[in-house]
Amino acid sequence: MSDISLEDIASLAKRRGFIYQGSEIYGGLAGTWDYGPLGTALKRNITNAWWKFFVDSRDDMYGIESAILMNPKVWEASGHVSGFTDPLIEDLKTKKRYRLDHVLEDAGVDVRGMDLAAMSAAIKEQGIKSPDGNELGNPASFNMLFETSMGAVEGEKSTIYLRGETAQGMFVNFKNIVDTFYPDLPFGVAQIGKAFRNEISPRDFVFRVREFEIMEFEYFISPNSWEGEFEKWRVAMHEWCEKILELPADKIHELEVSPEDRAHYSKRTVDFEFDFPFGKKELYGLAYRTDFDLTNHQNASGKNLEYRPKDGSAPFIPHVIEPTFGVDRSLMAVLCTAYTEDEMNGEKRIYLKLPKHLAPIKACVSPLLKNKPELVTKAREVYDMLKKELGAVMWDDNGNIGKRYRRQDEIGTPACIVIDFQTLEDNTVTVRNRDTAEQVRMKIEDLLANV
Ligand code: GAP
Repeated sequence: MSDISLEDIASLAKRRGFIYQGSEIYGGLAGTWDYGPLGTALKRNITNAWWKFFVDSRDDMYGIESAILMNPKVWEASGHVSGFTDPLIEDLKTKKRYRLDHVLEDAGVDVRGMDLAAMSAAIKEQGIKSPDGNELGNPASFNMLFETSMGAVEGEKSTIYLRGETAQGMFVNFKNIVDTFYPDLPFGVAQIGKAFRNEISPRDFVFRVREFEIMEFEYFISPNSWEGEFEKWRVAMHEWCEKILELPADKIHELEVSPEDRAHYSKRTVDFEFDFPFGKKELYGLAYRTDFDLTNHQNASGKNLEYRPKDGSAPFIPHVIEPTFGVDRSLMAVLCTAYTEDEMNGEKRIYLKLPKHLAPIKACVSPLLKNKPELVTKAREVYDMLKKELGAVMWDDNGNIGKRYRRQDEIGTPACIVIDFQTLEDNTVTVRNRDTAEQVRMKIEDLLANV
């Protein structure tokens, strides 16, 4: 994987309809990307697998979908209005703005544990210039919440925020879940949805963007069990990465985040990092958010957010363990892992070695020749039968068979099924395996069990 570049992945993603530049015909909009048909299918397979693994297969998880627009008091109480900031620095000549920690990292400085003052001092001491070679100004903290305004009457509009994380939707619904489902502690509230951050410098394809999707849950616990629960979810996150996404275990690394670098709400954070082609970068996070959010919402809203244990013991505000998973980064890690180049019949071949359950298209059906109506009719029958059961099946009768195989290889289709003259005699078809390029003959009635 090390010799694969981000450009290789981005170029395949564009060429084959996984991911396009956002608002492309207008020159784009920085930090936004649009998912095409295959990217949408791959993303949905990832989010569905996550929901099955962390929500549907468990008894202690409650799935919700909260509004993206929330009362601005939520973001004041959660600390995001005052503390959801990144360090910013400006090129004094071009006026371009950069993330201070990124400028330092690009200059080879290890920024872990550095606050704004320390980063500022490092820029001055080491005489670091902007990427365009100009002097840099004084650093500042930049709030990442996107502001918008609500209301139809000009002058009476109020400022609200696009949510910076999905987590607050779970906290403000904690009381609703308790009042309607009476769950035993510990229990979790899960959600998959969009989040928005006014990133200073979006970069690395869909790795750092301004509009992205998060899968996460708040797992409510009693405070004295936090260490055991943290460990349990740390292990489960590895299981998700290695067994469900099938990412190589040796490409996933844990980083114990120092107190200076932790988010304002966290008492312990472990970042899950992945070896992307552009370096070892954060994939997911696991945080112990204590009772920070519920306590602040209780104080700000005036509503009692305590949990009443069923054994009659004293009510208390639960603590929270939060595993969080970026959808777009998951998809990138899956694509980077799957991207493979080899040589076949003396020619370079690019293919996506995707796990079958994540592949956007499960099988492709082709008649050997498209100008033979008897082959086309039989192939349509097979296609309709598979489509009805599997859904994600593609029809392809363009060009020669070799070209069709290459096209399917590039989008990661595990099986290509070809209907030929022998099919008309004995109801068998050829099934070609994406990874080995081997072909076997199989009865049509056995296809569903084998592709
Ligand atoms: N509720 C906790 C939370 O939001 P976070 O680490 O700020 O934690 C969660 O974000 C996950 O969202 C990250 O681990 C990462 O996978 C993803 N993520 C964060 N910022 C992102 C961005 N600008 N573009 C794409 N994904 C992002």
